[in-house]
Amino acid sequence: MDGIDLMVKEHEYIKEGIELTRKACLKIVDENFVDTSFFNNALIFFRNYADKHHHGKEEEILFDYLKEAGGDLEKNLINAMEIEHNWGRLLLQDLEKALDEYNKGNKAAKLDIIGNAVGYTNLLVRHIDKEDNALFKHSKNTLGPNKLEEFNNQVDKFENSSENQANRDKYIKLLENLKQKI
Ligand SMILES: [Fe+2]
Ligand SMILES: [Fe+2]
Repeated sequence: MDGIDLMVKEHEYIKEGIELTRKACLKIVDENFVDTSFFNNALIFFRNYADKHHHGKEEEILFDYLKEAGGDLEKNLINAMEIEHNWGRLLLQDLEKALDEYNKGNKAAKLDIIGNAVGYTNLLVRHIDKEDNALFKHSKNTLGPNKLEEFNNQVDKFENSSENQANRDKYIKLLENLKQKI
């Protein structure tokens, strides 16, 4: 399989999750309704699908190949991408804290739910745009045909493991469920 095409496809699912999360935030503003069940499930989706399944594959496979085939420019690009992955993890952690606070009765925590959720979605939209339109194309050129084939085989191996296959199906289904609920 073309590993880069797969990652672009995964971005489409992540962007669907982003759209739904923004809708849930708008419900807080327009209807004063905090759908805590939605946000808890969105956290599960972003942490397991966007981060573990997708960013994990970028960090463990693509970035390693790119570091090996490239030079300082590629190292700096990867560093910037990894900083954004970590920044996203921090925003999800703060979103979880805000949800806990809200559940404990702190109504002002609504602000932190919106702030962290919107901050996360904005970060990811920009991050995905950079990968789709710059990094991924640059990666194909830098790797060249032989390394690209090796990379594709590694992605196949990752995708075909029963654990990753099950996780992928599980979290795509969760996304479908979230769509029905918003
Ligand atoms: Fe990324
Ligand atoms: Fe990505």
